[in-house]
Amino acid sequence: MLRKRGSVILCGAFLFVTWNAILVLLLWGRSPQPAQPGREQRELGDGPTNDVVADVLRMADVFEAELENQKKILLQIQGHRPLWDPSNKGRVQPVPQEPVIPVLVIACNRVTVRRCLDKLVERRPSAELHPIIVSQDCGHAETAEVIGSYGDKVVHLKQPDLSDIAVRPDHKKFQGYYKISRHYHWALNQVFKNLSYSSVVIVEDDLEVAPDFFEYFRALHPVLKSDPNLWCVSAWNDNGRDGYVDPSQANLLYRTDFFPGLGWMLRREVWEELEPKWPASFWDDWMRQPEQRRNRACIRPEISRTLTFGRQGVSLGQFYDKYLRYIKLNSEFVPFTKLDLSFLKEETYREKFEKEVYSAPVVTYEDVKRGQLKGSGPFRLQYSTKDSFKIFAKNLGIMDDLKSGVPRTGYRGVVSFLSKGRRIYLAPAPGWTRYDATWG
Ligand code: UD1
Ligand code: MN
Repeated sequence: MLRKRGSVILCGAFLFVTWNAILVLLLWGRSPQPAQPGREQRELGDGPTNDVVADVLRMADVFEAELENQKKILLQIQGHRPLWDPSNKGRVQPVPQEPVIPVLVIACNRVTVRRCLDKLVERRPSAELHPIIVSQDCGHAETAEVIGSYGDKVVHLKQPDLSDIAVRPDHKKFQGYYKISRHYHWALNQVFKNLSYSSVVIVEDDLEVAPDFFEYFRALHPVLKSDPNLWCVSAWNDNGRDGYVDPSQANLLYRTDFFPGLGWMLRREVWEELEPKWPASFWDDWMRQPEQRRNRACIRPEISRTLTFGRQGVSLGQFYDKYLRYIKLNSEFVPFTKLDLSFLKEETYREKFEKEVYSAPVVTYEDVKRGQLKGSGPFRLQYSTKDSFKIFAKNLGIMDDLKSGVPRTGYRGVVSFLSKGRRIYLAPAPGWTRYDATWG
């Protein structure tokens, strides 16, 4: 197949050269000789004379020049070999290529997907670099119409299996979570297996993206790719409510052991690892289990690059009303691709983070709560048990739940947030080694 393709190109080139040669011969053989050679002919050389030897020599010069041209063209074709030679698929290409990072939008029956799509279309820097793939479950006609109205700005896929899923009786109420999981499985296979993308940013239909959403993922794409101890980049800060994040630090990024979801980038390699054991339901909590996470971290921002407007959804609205609706969306564009992000490398990051946390003065919960901290901070509030973590978290207004023992946004047990204008690290005692899955 390869050889064949190569020889087709060579044959084409040969025919092209021969054709040009015949053309030149024809032109030269033409008689009678024009009285005044035109401009075109002058460029080829002077017209034929009665001196046959001189004519042949001149023709030889013209041929030589033409052959030289053809050689240049062939060399150019050769130089672009990676573009047409299928054996190079997946190999490193000599010309650095801008990575294509598609966005996968998971949709079902909410016509408000429009809010999500409008922002994605408006904010993507390029349609070529960021194709938008909307995968629709649920077969909802009105929603399909909304998605269809974007024409070729988005690709509309439809999850074909709309059947109910057999679940154990006490899970009847969780049918929705089973369908979400089935849909994710199907849609991610489309992206990685059928469409052969090597990474994707997954967004749900009730998320709105920030102005620098694409800039953020473009900048972190190489970071994710080069660090085997990272398995995702997320746009979400679970504790990103107004007053809990520092508005002057829109460029601040963290590593976190908690899988945040809600606008996140996944690479094909990780999908290939998860796909064979993908769960029937609760896919996000499943990802938070140690067997899946395997001590890998995600990158997350100080200020969220997604906002959720999905009060009506599969889970009940209380959680939404209590926390999610207050998560602040970043509004200032941070030029992440122009910043040096090497501080995120695991060892560099861990050493600096631990130094920062454990050299901060220890304060009591009462001091933090009353806002009576002396100095500008940061400060460390220490917890030692699951219960003390939960009490501090709840009373200070941050998320108090743990999944597989990992607190939301936590890195090595530490949760970083702002309280009354001071940076607080809610941290385990020094010498922390691992999470305790029985904690959550
Ligand atoms: C919550 C999570 C969500 C996660 C889900 C599964 C938050 C804020 N949301 O969903 O990230 O994926 O649990 O554990 O933490 N959908 C389908 N098919 C259905 C029903 C829904 O594909 O039959 C899609 C929706 O279009 C949406 C996604 O699944 O994109 C989540 O559904 P939603 O109703 O928003 O549920 P949440 O409670 O937010
Ligand atoms: Mn939702």
